Amino acid sequence: MAQQNDAFKHLIAHCKEYGFIYQSSEVYDGLSAVYDYGPYGVELKNNIKDYWWRSMVHMHDNIVGLDAAIFMHPKTWKASGHVDAFNDPLIDNKDSKKRYRADVLIEEYLDKLREKIQKNVKKAAKRFGEKFDEAMFLKTNERVLRYQEEHGRIKQRLADALSDGDMADLRAMIDELEIADPESGSRNWTDVRQFNLMFSTQLGNIAGEEGKLYLRPETAQGIFVNFLNVQKTTRQKLPFGIAQIGKAFRNEIVARQFIFRMREFEQMEMQYFVQPGTEMQWYERWRETRMRWHRALGMPEGRLRFHEHDALAHYANAAVDIEFEFPFGFKELEGIHSRTDFDLGSHQEVSGRKLQYYDPQRQESYVPYVVETSIGCDRMFLALMSTALQEEEVPGQEGKTRTREVLKLHPAIAPIKAAIMPLKRNEERLVNAAQDIFRQLRFSFNCQYDDTGSIGKLYSRQDAIGTPYCITVDFDTLEDETVTIRDRDTLEQERVPIQRLEEIIRRRVDMRGILE
Ligand code: GAP
Repeated sequence: MAQQNDAFKHLIAHCKEYGFIYQSSEVYDGLSAVYDYGPYGVELKNNIKDYWWRSMVHMHDNIVGLDAAIFMHPKTWKASGHVDAFNDPLIDNKDSKKRYRADVLIEEYLDKLREKIQKNVKKAAKRFGEKFDEAMFLKTNERVLRYQEEHGRIKQRLADALSDGDMADLRAMIDELEIADPESGSRNWTDVRQFNLMFSTQLGNIAGEEGKLYLRPETAQGIFVNFLNVQKTTRQKLPFGIAQIGKAFRNEIVARQFIFRMREFEQMEMQYFVQPGTEMQWYERWRETRMRWHRALGMPEGRLRFHEHDALAHYANAAVDIEFEFPFGFKELEGIHSRTDFDLGSHQEVSGRKLQYYDPQRQESYVPYVVETSIGCDRMFLALMSTALQEEEVPGQEGKTRTREVLKLHPAIAPIKAAIMPLKRNEERLVNAAQDIFRQLRFSFNCQYDDTGSIGKLYSRQDAIGTPYCITVDFDTLEDETVTIRDRDTLEQERVPIQRLEEIIRRRVDMRGILE
């Protein structure tokens, strides 16, 4: 665990040092759980969004895009259930004055039980050696059975308390399990109360409750309320989808883990409108499609998994998460939910407007069912960075090896596709030739010209930001119009004619490869 935390700290430091992510308002000591994307961060984020948009909208005849406003009529959030039910259970520690999510405190207790079970398994495996049968041990060891029983019992009680909104029982559990403030060790807790996660603000020309506006906590509602506009103007027939990328805001109580849980973040959501009764078939299809999307980027098999929801939200009849193994464990990266007709039905009721689809085949109107795919762009960013950042031993000088830090992002989403550098920065002819190449290639790819250090230093810097190709211009270039192109991953250096650069780079960085 300590090792993982170190790796995570290193990743955060790398993001800052190389211009991917900065703490928001750092000069004022930062704003918690809000981050700014730096020059390379914004390029990577745009590429992630581009890959999502193209795979969803451009590659599907029946999915169209939308860019709805962040502000929506306040009734939207009443109808969607967010005003009444978008809450987290909050608890304060009276001594440390720190604020926690009561359910997270209990989940951390459950994590500790799981760790105890694992410790026992490891110990026994060491003791029994090759003869060790883990499945049998888990079924028979008394201490482990006790931990498992306690784990199952607490997990169920937590799920019941959350679904019943029973704050008193959450508080009782914290007392009974003797859970202390993780920072101060104090058990002097307040009662648990519901805390609504929506940020609110005030419309300029209307005073009081009437003018209360919310920053949207999900982009999906902008899609629901526009469902008929889009269907009519694009003449789509069911099934069809509407996709949107945009900011969402949540006043998270526990906002740790860097860009995993932010107060301002970006979602990429797609609502797929289907005939009632066919939703499970589409739900199954979208689960697989979305998993393939992740795998196409080269995310390791073992670090992605499905996690079926134990308890379903009131609007869903099926829900699964795609979880990724972040440096702090497996956590939700994307959600795929079968949301029934809850949202459209509810907006229809609250607005008094019909939100129905006329089905020409069945010759009747009805409220469609919806299958949703919803992924946080920032979480995807974190997942990619934590997979890509690697340290490896490579051949160094005089037959020795050296450690290099390299960001092995898929070339199609790498912020910079090629860096062009002169072998000597004081040699005007080399500088001019390198700049000529740069000026040509930048029409096709995001490139960088760099002559601020020795070639070795420039290579290291480009490795650290994930640039798939480095192109060096030397004296031979002036004679024969060839350059050296270095591959980030294999470190192979090849001599190629300048005219072939475009074709060579395109072969690896073209998004077509992953879209196909
Ligand atoms: N419309 C459905 C919806 O919003 P969600 O599970 O609450 O569902 C969807 O959020 C995705 O948005 C999550 O899988 C996650 O990737 C991302 N997300 C949610 N809260 C986030 C936060 N506070 N910071 C960063 N990403 C977040």
